[in-house]
Amino acid sequence: MRIIHFSDPHVSAFPDSFRALFDKRILGTANYFLRRRFLHDETMLSKAVEFILTDPPDAVVCAGDITSTGSPREFRTALKILAPLLELPATKFLYVPGNHDAYVADKRCAAALEESFAKLNGNGLALPDLPVKVPVGECDFALINEGCPTNPFLSTGVARKEDAEKIAEFAENKNGRPLILLGHLPLRYKSSLWGKRHDLRGPGREILEQLLDKGKIDLSLCGHKHINRRNVDESGRGEIGAGAITRTGDINIIDYSPDKDIFDITTADIRMTGVGSAL
Ligand SMILES: [Fe+2]
Ligand SMILES: [Fe+2]
Repeated sequence: MRIIHFSDPHVSAFPDSFRALFDKRILGTANYFLRRRFLHDETMLSKAVEFILTDPPDAVVCAGDITSTGSPREFRTALKILAPLLELPATKFLYVPGNHDAYVADKRCAAALEESFAKLNGNGLALPDLPVKVPVGECDFALINEGCPTNPFLSTGVARKEDAEKIAEFAENKNGRPLILLGHLPLRYKSSLWGKRHDLRGPGREILEQLLDKGKIDLSLCGHKHINRRNVDESGRGEIGAGAITRTGDINIIDYSPDKDIFDITTADIRMTGVGSAL
């Protein structure tokens, strides 16, 4: 089976609420106009969609941060671009929130996230139900929600203990099928002291790290760091962090062969494919 993995498109839009002037969104918007818009090219997300449509895989997974400040307008724009992937009859689209998708504790933003989560996951899943296990082809995906609003100086996510324990239950009952964790933040990333304000926190992190290290989680797919990186063994097991699709143009193509029991990983650079000119 084939899995396509990308992350962090960070679709941006002007704030669509007066309330945005009084919370973290004003900083996020300023960050976009002063810095992020020079780094991210939103047309790359359309190109990624077109690339995936040329040869649809069994699963497309997006590891979060589809928005910059979690506003309803940003979610609407992101969903409009991703919509063709949701129509594919033989492709399962899976999405988990990033820290930017759960940017502030605003009711309209929280509702937009929940609504978008349901739409992106085929209206079969509800965000409060996470973690859930979703079988696709020969693999099972464990979706975890690590997004939660933080103060303006942090870009962290949280692994709750009860969530990690549920993932551990999935890992104990694999029935011979590989278990792929889909979260936003990496488990295998050694940050500098300053970089720790971007790390996954919470008591569940250690549980998840141990499951991955022991091979009980076969593969961790994530994003957040905006650089494409792999930390896998010879069977392709370990962790793959996707770069920001609108910044690096990288899409990971992961082929799982049950016969060989390996994950074969390649990376396509959307900037080099020549697709997307019509979108
Ligand atoms: Fe991000
Ligand atoms: Fe992130």
